[in-house]
Amino acid sequence: MSATRRKFLQGSGLAAAALGLGGASLGAAGAVAAEPAGRPAAAPDFRPDDWASVRAQFRLSPEYAHLSNFYIVSHPKPVRDAIDKYRHALDDNPAIFLETHMFERPEDMLCPKVMAAAAEYIGGRPEDVALTSSTTNGLALLYNGLRLKPGQEILTTTHDHYVHHESIRLAAGKWGTPVRRTTLYDTGATASVDQIVSRLRAAVQPNTRLIGITWVHSSTGVRLPVRRIADAVAEINQGRDAADRALIVLDGVHGFGAVEDRVADLGCDFFAAGTHKWIFAPRGTGLIWARPENWALVQPTIPTFISLDLYNAWQEQRPPDGPTKAAWVSPGGFLAYEHQWAAVEAFRFHAQIGRKRIADRIAALNTRIKEGLAAMQHVTLHTPMDPALSAGINCFEVQGHAPKEVVERLLDRRIVASTSPYKVTYPRLSAGIMNTPEEVDSALKAVRALA
Ligand SMILES: Cc1ncc(COP(=O)(O)O)c(C=O)c1O
Repeated sequence: MSATRRKFLQGSGLAAAALGLGGASLGAAGAVAAEPAGRPAAAPDFRPDDWASVRAQFRLSPEYAHLSNFYIVSHPKPVRDAIDKYRHALDDNPAIFLETHMFERPEDMLCPKVMAAAAEYIGGRPEDVALTSSTTNGLALLYNGLRLKPGQEILTTTHDHYVHHESIRLAAGKWGTPVRRTTLYDTGATASVDQIVSRLRAAVQPNTRLIGITWVHSSTGVRLPVRRIADAVAEINQGRDAADRALIVLDGVHGFGAVEDRVADLGCDFFAAGTHKWIFAPRGTGLIWARPENWALVQPTIPTFISLDLYNAWQEQRPPDGPTKAAWVSPGGFLAYEHQWAAVEAFRFHAQIGRKRIADRIAALNTRIKEGLAAMQHVTLHTPMDPALSAGINCFEVQGHAPKEVVERLLDRRIVASTSPYKVTYPRLSAGIMNTPEEVDSALKAVRALA
């Protein structure tokens, strides 16, 4: 153990090797806590090609049809087991286990394994992934870290989530950066790729430096054609100096894990997402990915524990060497590491089931929801029917019933729906890979009964 690394933790004389607690000693999964009443005693062996087996990996109460899983994850079994394993190891020997797996030999470090698993899923490089705790956290780090020149503006839209608009407002307020919002479509149900791209293109001005958009709008269920938007922005950027290029910041949380596209192919410059929704990584996990050349534009906000570069520079009382790296943007402070490290298992879970199978299943179940809703006279569907312009969230209205009342009436029948947390609010139904066509049909029956 180098003195530098030891001091980084606590200045202790602990020696992991002496106590035999290297990475190899981690062992098999720890004991799993007793299941609460009503849950299956144990998940059967995981058969990734069988949707019933996939469902059985989640401890979701069988008494409800859970059609709001995009809100916050229920950990599937491999993720629960990994959390248990790391929690036991940390509870057994916190200082040594942490020291060994955060600050010792590179081959024992666990955060790089998370970055590698995420990068493989993204289609990018591990060194371009910063680990965060949520979408919110990632967006705030980006807007705080991207310094604009005087006169440059941030363009965003009227469709984004509270945390995106607030991240912009809080950062822009510090520097007096102008912010504008544009509307990409009037109603979700009639939105089209051409309309969205042309409205966005028309809204970009010569001084637009950041374009903040959202992959899948949780306000309407619309999925933006990000690749087409990026191509349009690339055209606008032709002839602009590097320092004036318009850069796309994407809130990707409801596309990441729900649709097949690889993030690195979308054409965005910065991508922030929680991994505790569609990816099924532990609650309180997320990431930022950026194109390699873009990290240099980000000023870190929170001291990192993942890279020793900044710590060594601080020790030597000098500025850090070279431009910002993604690891420098991963917030430090000790975290719930059993959650952060267990994220690897979520990416593995996706890979085992298959990216395309997951996307197809989500599209099929949500198309079933939309077709069912669209066929009802008393229902207005606000999400496009086209699977290319939607993903796993469906927004609708029921004549004569306020959104909150719709959700309450569905809950009376043990169907878990949600309302969208926006100024104009709608009831929402959303199906993920843990849901069944029968659950969808029971929800449709409940909506039909509201006529
Ligand atoms: C579009 C969108 N962005 C961001 C968030 C916040 O996500 P997180 O909990 O990862 O910060 C939400 C919440 O569901 C959302 O709908």
